[in-house]
Amino acid sequence: MITYIGTPQIETNRLLLEKFVLSDAQKVFDHWISDERVTDNRVSAAHTDVSQTVERVAGIVSQYEKEDFCYWAVKLKDSGELIGEIDLYDFDEATGNCEVSYSLGYRWWNQGYGTEALRAVIEFGFRHMNLHKVAAAHNTDNPASGRIMSKVGMVQEGIVRDMIRNSKGQYKDCAIYGILEGEYFSKGDGF
Ligand SMILES: CC(C)(COP(=O)(O)OP(=O)(O)OC[C@H]1O[C@@H](n2cnc3c(N)ncnc32)[C@H](O)[C@@H]1OP(=O)(O)O)[C@@H](O)C(=O)NCCC(=O)NCCS
Repeated sequence: MITYIGTPQIETNRLLLEKFVLSDAQKVFDHWISDERVTDNRVSAAHTDVSQTVERVAGIVSQYEKEDFCYWAVKLKDSGELIGEIDLYDFDEATGNCEVSYSLGYRWWNQGYGTEALRAVIEFGFRHMNLHKVAAAHNTDNPASGRIMSKVGMVQEGIVRDMIRNSKGQYKDCAIYGILEGEYFSKGDGF
């Protein structure tokens, strides 16, 4: 059975993962959600007006009262800068499985932060939530996302053709990845 404990603060070497607050909306807009370099790799379109982001962040904040809601703001520990987001979702009680998704602002790509955040959330899921499996999918034209999945021990399970249709009407093939609790614990902290 999954143990839900909401969205507690998680600290890594360089990052703090913590709850969003309403006043984060402008930074979310400026740092990633209005940027097509980021949103082209996701399903939803880039925001064109910060009011869309205010609504989205308010929607996130309003769900923190639910214990089965796990949605973190990713911040740099040194400066407090808000650089991205990561969440666990689609919890399946029957299996103990769920999905993970994440986005970082473009200026912070390729500095290891995505790997660090994903590793921390997977560790949290297995060590504290009793998850059985964490899965994710990335567009095959977004290999950096697959790379960070591999780096944290997720295994590619296949490719689903035309799995999503993005906001520009383009179909995308997606690579499906997953990591099982047995794999996580058998490999220890070595990922
Ligand atoms: C996916 C994402 C979170 C990765 O974050 P990040 O902080 O840049 O990731 P890291 O720096 O930890 O690692 C990136 C890895 O991808 C590799 N990489 C980057 N661009 C690549 C490319 N075009 N082809 C292959 N590998 C690539 C990097 O070399 C690095 O691997 P390495 O450590 O072995 O060298 C970030 O690119 C992002 O937010 N993208 C837009 C949103 C998104 O794609 N979300 C996920 C949807 S599934």
